[in-house]
Amino acid sequence: MRIYDLIAKKRDGGTHTRAELETLINGYVSGQVPDYQMAAWMMAVYLRGMTDQETAVLTDIMAHSGEMVDLSPIQGIKVDKHSTGGVGDKTTLVIAPIAAACGVKIAKMSGRGLGHTGGTIDKMESVPGTRTALSQEEFFAQVNRIGISVIGQSENIAVADKKMYALRDVTATVSCIPLIASSIMSKKLASGSDAILLDVTTGTGAFMKTVEESIQLARLMVSIGAHHGRQVAAMITDMDTPLGHNIGNSLEVIESMEVLKGRGPADLTEVCLQLASYMLVLAGKGSPSACRAMAQQAIRDGSAFAKCREMFAAQGGDVRVLEDYSLFAQPAARYELLADAEGYIVENDAEKIGTASVLLGAGREKKGDPIDYAAGIILHKKRGDYVRRGESLATFCGQASRFAAAEACYRSGLRIGPDRPAELPLIYAIVTQDGVQRL
Ligand code: URA
Repeated sequence: MRIYDLIAKKRDGGTHTRAELETLINGYVSGQVPDYQMAAWMMAVYLRGMTDQETAVLTDIMAHSGEMVDLSPIQGIKVDKHSTGGVGDKTTLVIAPIAAACGVKIAKMSGRGLGHTGGTIDKMESVPGTRTALSQEEFFAQVNRIGISVIGQSENIAVADKKMYALRDVTATVSCIPLIASSIMSKKLASGSDAILLDVTTGTGAFMKTVEESIQLARLMVSIGAHHGRQVAAMITDMDTPLGHNIGNSLEVIESMEVLKGRGPADLTEVCLQLASYMLVLAGKGSPSACRAMAQQAIRDGSAFAKCREMFAAQGGDVRVLEDYSLFAQPAARYELLADAEGYIVENDAEKIGTASVLLGAGREKKGDPIDYAAGIILHKKRGDYVRRGESLATFCGQASRFAAAEACYRSGLRIGPDRPAELPLIYAIVTQDGVQRL
């Protein structure tokens, strides 16, 4: 089987067999298929698509291209959660402790920031001392002992995805539904949990820009999960506006702790409660309304915050910072971004805000760049708010030399006008094996 023929087949709209996909993916992982042929094939997929069955087979091959984690030494139902990425998207730090406080086992592998979006592992490492690389024995023992551990994804998980993702990133083939679905689901299947909750973000700060595309992606991932005997549900959540007010690593840990202490912003708290409830539903803890009540109780009685503290302590983190935020490393400088007009914020592009935060040092411009954990943005006004000229829209934190570039980026996605924009829902739909429930 020649790789040339496989590229031509997809270019002409053909459907691959399992054997063809195995030749391509396994050949790429072993180095026999060069980057340029893989890039050409992925562009053909981008333009021609794949059938759902083909995508499920591709996902299976990608999942088996590395280690398949066996979580059976951990007792109980293990539930995983994955977000397709966003700005100010700190929900894992809230919902994983809530679910664990309610008795669900969380053995979670998370990622680092990607492009304009943040990553849970970078946020956790802003708590001094926190270890995110545990041995498998330590990881399992911690989950059996306290019910929760969140660590960085092992290098050996879904090896094909690692190579393919890096190539997609530089060949304009990221935003392609079959490639995103196989990328995410291959990692989730290989990570071993019994059930998976997907947070499929939609809007300017997300990879999927429309609700319909997000629903299509969610349906495909749910059906791939079902095909592999995993229970999967997806929530379509808004990412036109960052979640909460804080963007940046330690800033997001602080805001997450506020939610766990019952003092978080309304939008972030609501999305977290919905997601946490669904994690509990997937774990068989009851109906959505009963699970929501359990999640609310875990915040109210302090057990969710206590669980989060216990997790950081078990992983070596200095948990004093979770109580006294002034103990976090502080930014070198702060800058107030002032409104240059009066009116409603009609647009405040979340991707631009995320990129401005990266420019301040909260993310990496290229792989391996160091992170300034104290850098980021505190939003004082968001889409739909009324502002007066000269009022502060946001506080920038970081090195003063970075403020001008971040400001230009932020302002390029900002529009202030006379009319209040229509409010957007926080959650658009829930997708399960039974279908799509629009909210
Ligand atoms: N997140 C992933 O892991 N893969 C994608 O393709 C997009 C987002």
